[in-house]
Amino acid sequence: MRTITLINGDGIGPEICQSVMEIIKASGLEIDWDIQTAGADVIEQEGVPLPSRVIESIKKNKVALKAPVTTPIGKGFRSVNVQLRKDLDLYANLRPCKNFPGVETRFKDVDLVVVRENTEDLYAGVEEQIDNDTAHSIKIITRKASDRICRFAFDYAVKNNRKEVCVVTKANIMKLSDGLFLEVFRSVAKDYPTILAKEILVDNLCMQLVQDPTKFDVLVLPNLYGDIVSDLTAGLIGGLGVAQGANIGLDCAVFEPVHGSAPDIKGQNKANPTALLMSAIEMLKYINEFSYAEKIEKALFKTLADGNKTADLGGNLSTTEFTQSVIKNLCNF
Ligand code: NAI
Repeated sequence: MRTITLINGDGIGPEICQSVMEIIKASGLEIDWDIQTAGADVIEQEGVPLPSRVIESIKKNKVALKAPVTTPIGKGFRSVNVQLRKDLDLYANLRPCKNFPGVETRFKDVDLVVVRENTEDLYAGVEEQIDNDTAHSIKIITRKASDRICRFAFDYAVKNNRKEVCVVTKANIMKLSDGLFLEVFRSVAKDYPTILAKEILVDNLCMQLVQDPTKFDVLVLPNLYGDIVSDLTAGLIGGLGVAQGANIGLDCAVFEPVHGSAPDIKGQNKANPTALLMSAIEMLKYINEFSYAEKIEKALFKTLADGNKTADLGGNLSTTEFTQSVIKNLCNF
């Protein structure tokens, strides 16, 4: 039986993890979940939000499924999510964004992929307080990190029959940092003659995404733009409750939804487990469990197509009712 690390997170994390574990078990796939806790609650007992046992577990198992972990705003401990990605060198953040059957949205035929650099940029949180009235954030862009994320995006495009990769920067203003990212992209693109290489500024991209997202294919972005743009693209397909993600490195991968811990609906049995379930489906494909991945995906799509939805999608099912509906549909596939 395969052992997989499960970080059950906080906020709505434990509720959606329970749902996903039940669905996977009902599909017939036995997984030995190595459940690891992290975040604010862990600090009290262990002194740190991300104890080394979590990292060790992922290094050993090579794969993890992760629910969201709350990060205090403006003060408090450093993000567990950022530290995890850095400690395991999970350099590529992959966020596919495609319409779901039965989920009404403004645009049909959205099918794009956000490839976000995951280790540096302003998002690394390297900051200093200069004096009471001044703070600095340091934007770090390196050739090495830019090269591997651009190659990841082009390799992904080739493997997944995509036609183009578009680099997203603000290189007209951040001439050195984003300029380097763009320069590396142009150089990497030459190694992939079958894929069309495009360029766009991030502000223009945002405007065009809300006007017509169907014209975009694979996007590759530095960390912070990737973080923001992928919430926007989540909105194009039904919102954060359905948007999946994965953090991929050379040795291990951590699959997690785009959304956060949703403290506003914590403990109310309202959370949509779809984003975590879609992340888990990608994880099953990553470990070559294609038949189970396909079976669960079909059951999920049928559930949504039949109009069975949680409140974030305009439905009236609780998390547990939605879970049962997916489980019921598993026997059709
Ligand atoms: P959020 O994504 O938690 O919530 C934004 C809105 O979307 C809320 O109204 C929430 O109820 C809704 N929502 C999110 N996921 C949902 C789901 N599965 N089903 C139904 N509705 C859902 O973003 P917010 O409020 O900005 O962040 C809350 C906390 O999560 C913060 O501490 C943040 O740092 C953390 N966070 C953690 C992430 C991670 O662990 N990877 C990613 C993003 C945020």
